[in-house]
Amino acid sequence: MKSSDRMELSSCLFALRNVNHSYRRGQRIIPVLTTINLVIERGQTCALVGASGSGKSTLLNILGLLEHPTSGRLVFGGQNMQTAGADQLANLRNRDIGFVFQAFNLLPRLSVLDNVALPLSYRGVPRREARVFAQEQLALVGLAERGSCRPADLSGGQRQRVAIARALVGRPTLILADEPTGNLDSQTATDIMTLLLGLNRDHGVTLVMVTHDGELAKRFDRQIRVIGGELHEESAHEAF
Ligand SMILES: Nc1ncnc2c1ncn2[C@@H]1O[C@H](COP(=O)(O)OP(=O)(O)O)[C@@H](O)[C@H]1O
Ligand SMILES: [Mg+2]
Repeated sequence: MKSSDRMELSSCLFALRNVNHSYRRGQRIIPVLTTINLVIERGQTCALVGASGSGKSTLLNILGLLEHPTSGRLVFGGQNMQTAGADQLANLRNRDIGFVFQAFNLLPRLSVLDNVALPLSYRGVPRREARVFAQEQLALVGLAERGSCRPADLSGGQRQRVAIARALVGRPTLILADEPTGNLDSQTATDIMTLLLGLNRDHGVTLVMVTHDGELAKRFDRQIRVIGGELHEESAHEAF
């Protein structure tokens, strides 16, 4: 390995090289992303912006190892994802990535504490231990007192904070958030952004977020716009 390659591997979390993605609808092939080249460094904050239907969620799902690109190369944490098996992908998703969605996606029948503990249960962490970690994460998002509530007892902003605690409980390297403030009023949205950016600043979590809101996007290190299936970036970190 050349030393320049090793340098890239150490600071680089993702590298997408000539990634294309299309969906098939019946006989038709619908191209969504074309020749995407993108490097995301560890600890960066990236906002993905663009019109509805431009492919932001598709790109986020590729980064989250939920969607396999139709062609091209995806390197995650120094490993080539093209040759990774389903088990390895599921392990990486579970250990390294926390997801936050617009619709919160909490389980209504579980308590707030058990919702947060869920990713640890999937890993086989004993329930009592999982609940201790979950309680710590709830405290971190300012909901230490609400663990025994059901999600329905909380406001939208509080539910999204629970979802963020759940995303963090496994100590991921990366948080992927798809319009996490899309269902929230603007003050609550600002508070959630402050929370996410604080986690990046204080804990070094890499953050990639889809947002419609240009003002929120300005608070990120990088703003990457998806237009016509291509990426456009107006900052020092050029997408290439
Ligand atoms: N699972 C799918 N099957 C077929 N088409 C899809 C699928 N997911 C997304 N698309 C299409 O891909 C395009 C990009 O979608 P998406 O990535 O969700 O855009 P955005 O998040 O920017 O609104 C849209 O035309 C959408 O209809
Ligand atoms: Mg979307």
